[in-house]
Amino acid sequence: MGSPTASNYVLGQSIHEYERLMLQARMLRPYTEKFFRAAGLAPGMRVLDVGSGMGDVAILSADIVGPSGRVLGIDRDADALDNARRRTDEQGCSSWVEFETSNLDEFTTTDQFDALVGRYVLLYQPDPSSTIRSLLRSVKPGGIVVFHEFDLPGPDASYPPCPLYDQVGMLLGEVFRRGGAPPVGRQLGKTLLDAGLPFPTIAAEIIIGGGHGSYVYAWLANTLISVVPRLAQLRLSLPPGVAADHTLASRMEEEAVSLGSQLLAPAQFGAWTRNS
Ligand SMILES: C[S@@+](CC[C@H](N)C(=O)[O-])C[C@H]1O[C@@H](n2cnc3c(N)ncnc32)[C@H](O)[C@@H]1O
Repeated sequence: MGSPTASNYVLGQSIHEYERLMLQARMLRPYTEKFFRAAGLAPGMRVLDVGSGMGDVAILSADIVGPSGRVLGIDRDADALDNARRRTDEQGCSSWVEFETSNLDEFTTTDQFDALVGRYVLLYQPDPSSTIRSLLRSVKPGGIVVFHEFDLPGPDASYPPCPLYDQVGMLLGEVFRRGGAPPVGRQLGKTLLDAGLPFPTIAAEIIIGGGHGSYVYAWLANTLISVVPRLAQLRLSLPPGVAADHTLASRMEEEAVSLGSQLLAPAQFGAWTRNS
């Protein structure tokens, strides 16, 4: 059973996209874990993970809170959540992790959670502060609020310049902006403040690619492949000579290796505070 995807969800719902999310999650896990632990996530806590997708953040939260805690993941994509349930079974944490199909703005529960967490989800909300405000009804006073979001580098992302890498990066930025999902890493402070929360602690890490075997090539290439079906609708097209296929990652790698370039990848932002 499928579920409706908002038109600004530029990544779509496909097997390719679900696989891309899991690859991305393996790469992002250390950053997210660092933000969540700094925020105070600890064993025994009850966690609400919003925009769970394939369940990776719920599984990370489950590892932190352990079997004496509880995790509820919500997402409007029922197919992704079926995969997430299967994955929690495989990981052995299904007895303390559950998933529920729901739009974030329509979610209701009588439960009170110790922590509200989410990764790469606020950018898709038309009014992220108002979404957070409505989710805070399910967070106990003093509960943790922590989000991990990203922001994109500007035009000078590589040095020495790699035309292919830079073109793919700029095109992706344009897809998110025109698609109605501009990255919000740099806006997390004001977003949480406008949700009625105390100004958060904010940390950022920039992933740097380059050399042989960097995961940055596949990350960008796979993201471009996910958004290709949306390009025409957004009045965008692939730059001449840029084919979005299975060779793209290796072509970016060849380019960066031959030039000896270092590549700025999306910056990872974590912001955490407490429900007042
Ligand atoms: C880029 S994925 C991130 C998934 C997961 N948090 C991770 O980092 O691996 C964003 C997810 O948020 C979900 N999502 C976005 N906006 C939503 C909304 N308003 N209500 C419910 N789910 C939403 C999408 O369906 C998608 O599964």
